Amino acid sequence: MKLSFYGHSCFQVTIGGKKILFDPFITYNELAKDIDVNQVETDYIFLSHGHVDHISDTVSIAQRTGCKVVANWEIHEWLNKQGVSNTHPMNTGGKWTFDFGTVKCTVAQHSSGLPDGSYGGSPMGFLFSSGEGNFYYSGDTALTLDMQLIPAWSKPDFAVLPIGDNFTMDVADAVRAADFVQCSTVVGVHYNTFGFIKINEAEARATFAAAGKQLLLPAIGETIDI
Ligand code: NI
Ligand code: MN
Repeated sequence: MKLSFYGHSCFQVTIGGKKILFDPFITYNELAKDIDVNQVETDYIFLSHGHVDHISDTVSIAQRTGCKVVANWEIHEWLNKQGVSNTHPMNTGGKWTFDFGTVKCTVAQHSSGLPDGSYGGSPMGFLFSSGEGNFYYSGDTALTLDMQLIPAWSKPDFAVLPIGDNFTMDVADAVRAADFVQCSTVVGVHYNTFGFIKINEAEARATFAAAGKQLLLPAIGETIDI
């Protein structure tokens, strides 16, 4: 699988020949100023929750590319009102088979209000299973015991986890989350974007290494084979 990082929690995975973008927040991310949002091509956008740092570029990318946007029921309805009609509503616990593989929506312990104050439903994570491999994106979340259920559904080859603390798990909890989902390769997201979530990258890598795990922190704009 290939993974491109666009800053904060925005990344794209290519599987089954389809490009899948997560949580687009590029225009308003100063650290991603070298990424031209108008050059981002995608077949799908998956939204973990309604917070502005996860959805701010969704309407423009969806309208330009015609991609399908997958989100919880409330965000799906909100997007329809913004003029984005190619949407697929899901909700926690449900799964659906798309043309690239199957996605199960997992529990995330967070909140999900939309930027205009609309109710944004429940936050979610996603577990992807495909012929090319499996991966788990937790979304913004605390560490939860529910993560222990993930490998019973499908064992991830890699996990994308927030590590910035304050709003989500910190590095130590992300190591425990990787244990719960039985995965030793983690892509860290949701760090350094704002003052509240600054981390020491070398210390974070060392904490994972001490637990026998690998923490990948791709540069913004970098594409890695994973
Ligand atoms: Ni959030
Ligand atoms: Mn966030």
